[in-house]
Amino acid sequence: MIDTRFRISVFLVGLCILVTQNVAVLAEVESADEATVEIDPAGIENAAREVLSDHCFRCHGSEKTSGKLDLRSIESMLAGGLRGPAIVPGNASESLLVEFVRPGAKPHMPPGKQQLEDQQIEALAAWVDQLSPELIAQSTKEVEETPHETSSSSPAMIPEGIDPTLAIDFMVAKRWQERNVEPSSPTDDATFARRLYLDLTGRIPTLEQLNKFLADTNSDKRDRLIDQLLESELHARHLADIFDVVLLGRGDDGKLNERTQHGWREYLESSFASNRPWNQMAREMVLARATDSTDVRAGWFLYERKNDFQAIAESVSPSFFGLRIECAQCHDHPLAAEIEQRHYWGLVAFFNRGKNDGSKNGPRVVESAIGGFNKYTDLGGNAHDALLTYFASATIREEIPGEETEVKDDDSNYFNGQGGAPVGEPRVPRFSRRQQFADEVLSDHPLLARSFVNRAWALMLGRGIVHPVDQMDSMHAASHPELLEWLSNDFRNNDYDIRRLLRSLARTRAYQLESASIGEGQLPEDFAHALHKPLIAESYLNSILVALDQNESDNSEIMTLFRSEFPDVFPEEPTATLSQALLLTNSPKFFALFDAERPGIMTRLRETKDVEQQVRHAFMAIFGRQPDDDEFEQAVGYLKARQSAPEALGQMVWAMIASSEFRVNH
Ligand code: HEC
Ligand code: HEC
Repeated sequence: MIDTRFRISVFLVGLCILVTQNVAVLAEVESADEATVEIDPAGIENAAREVLSDHCFRCHGSEKTSGKLDLRSIESMLAGGLRGPAIVPGNASESLLVEFVRPGAKPHMPPGKQQLEDQQIEALAAWVDQLSPELIAQSTKEVEETPHETSSSSPAMIPEGIDPTLAIDFMVAKRWQERNVEPSSPTDDATFARRLYLDLTGRIPTLEQLNKFLADTNSDKRDRLIDQLLESELHARHLADIFDVVLLGRGDDGKLNERTQHGWREYLESSFASNRPWNQMAREMVLARATDSTDVRAGWFLYERKNDFQAIAESVSPSFFGLRIECAQCHDHPLAAEIEQRHYWGLVAFFNRGKNDGSKNGPRVVESAIGGFNKYTDLGGNAHDALLTYFASATIREEIPGEETEVKDDDSNYFNGQGGAPVGEPRVPRFSRRQQFADEVLSDHPLLARSFVNRAWALMLGRGIVHPVDQMDSMHAASHPELLEWLSNDFRNNDYDIRRLLRSLARTRAYQLESASIGEGQLPEDFAHALHKPLIAESYLNSILVALDQNESDNSEIMTLFRSEFPDVFPEEPTATLSQALLLTNSPKFFALFDAERPGIMTRLRETKDVEQQVRHAFMAIFGRQPDDDEFEQAVGYLKARQSAPEALGQMVWAMIASSEFRVNH
């Protein structure tokens, strides 16, 4: 076995050198900046920003936007209010922002008797005067890229470009040190193999696979097993099982059949099998071009929601950005105030020109070039246009037709044709809102990478760096913020390569620790021992079938049962419900698996006459380990008292399968 501690210490020495160099380089750059910059646009901007936030945001900010004007970003100032743009870049005297704050202006800002000081007015004027297209581009970029949790970020601790496994090992160990916790020991090979098979392929190893791994004497056998499993068909199937639930929610049999029939399932499996970049998958799902066959299959993500645009917004946000937004429908999010009502309705607007087309060409989502201008009402009863915007993104400008009230929902909006008659091919609007979303919001959104990295982390390590994984908002702090930032950048810089990310995670020291926690004071988010991960429905049943050495294809009915009783993927809190217990203790369909006449392990145990061998074989096949002395004595006693009757063998096997040891990945 590789000595991970040795690997770590060698690495630490290397990394310390890198970090020191990096800090030194940073310091040099900073002082050079200070020496050469004479005119300081940042200073001018800060002065103006201070005036705005002290005197204007109260009414032109998140809660309220008086005069329909939001003064918090250059974008929104340019978008303007009732009277049009609030600023004319480079020209203060033409800008309402400056005009209205001068003494005697009508209306006068701030309203009432308050008057800004001359100096403050000049600060605003100076800022508008020096605005150039370049500065605006730069500044909107900054607004976009300042998500809540990085605001206080210290200089990067981890150099770019190193192996992610090393970065993780370093940052996780750093937290152990800071919190003074002792990590658990590395796992033995059998536990590692079981854990890895479950996490990457969704089932335990067969006895043969396990024995082969245990017999392997190569020092890099763990790394090789990781690579081998990541390439396997079962891996693609397992990720498809998980992301089917993440993206569409648990479906009943009817829905699952449709998802299979219309190519969604195949889309997921083939994408994971070919390691399709995550940003590309996300793009295909939201763009869902009716004219592209891959998009059509991916577009089931939209199609299954049947033109319910709020449902679409409420699934796009957690799926691709790790943010639940339901609470921002009627008011800005009460706890995570950065998620605003306008983001909710903006996201709805990106999709509300779509329409399900279930005609002869099969299910696909077509898109209109017009319509979809909605308003929403805040708690104060004020109506607002739903502009094309989303959290941490700029607002996309779109001409709002003055007179248009309602657009007729006519097929000619969606299809090419003469005189409105639908003739086959869907139109692709020149200004497509879904395209705008894919290009302007999704493609470079910092949360796209961050939320995927966090989910992959939770998949492998039992809990996200931000927990829960669909609430990456200001209420839920990251346990390792710098690491999450670093990993997200790394994921993004490496083409959203899912396999590379999972490989890096599986190779870490934290992943390969024992699950028993030693020492005082270990918190789950220290990742100082392996966390228990409850098996998802598919993994549980597939593992049972491997343990019993039975055929998967005969058991689709039981799979339905398991899917409905064990619906969770990434549960916030692992729970065992009464109906789950009842399934395991009372279901005839489930018990049938332990019938003495079944092929596989049941037959083999029956044919093994020696009681001690029966017990050892069952333990190895089911738990992947030998029984300890107590377990051995108990099991042997149980079988002996019943002369190893077939029912007794069945009951022993059943008890092992229903045990919590079998039902969690540890
Ligand atoms: C107490 C609330 C309040 C504060 C504070 C306030 N405003 Fe206003 N602002 C309003 C209201 C109300 C309107 C709409 C007035 C109207 O249309 O006659 C408005 C309108 C405006 C408009 C015109 C928008 C349009 O297109 O019609 C500008 C520009 C403006 N404010 C700038 C500012 C600036 C700059 C500040 C800070 C120095 C500021 N406001 C502070 C309430 C406020
Ligand atoms: C369908 C509309 C709607 C949705 C969705 C909604 N709320 Fe509200 N919420 C309201 C209304 C209306 C009020 C104002 C009640 C009042 O003013 O008395 C309110 C008020 C609140 C308040 C009190 C605010 C205060 O300052 O007193 C909290 C807290 C709150 N909501 C939390 C939530 C959370 C959390 C969610 C998501 C789970 C949510 N809301 C979703 C309509 C909604």
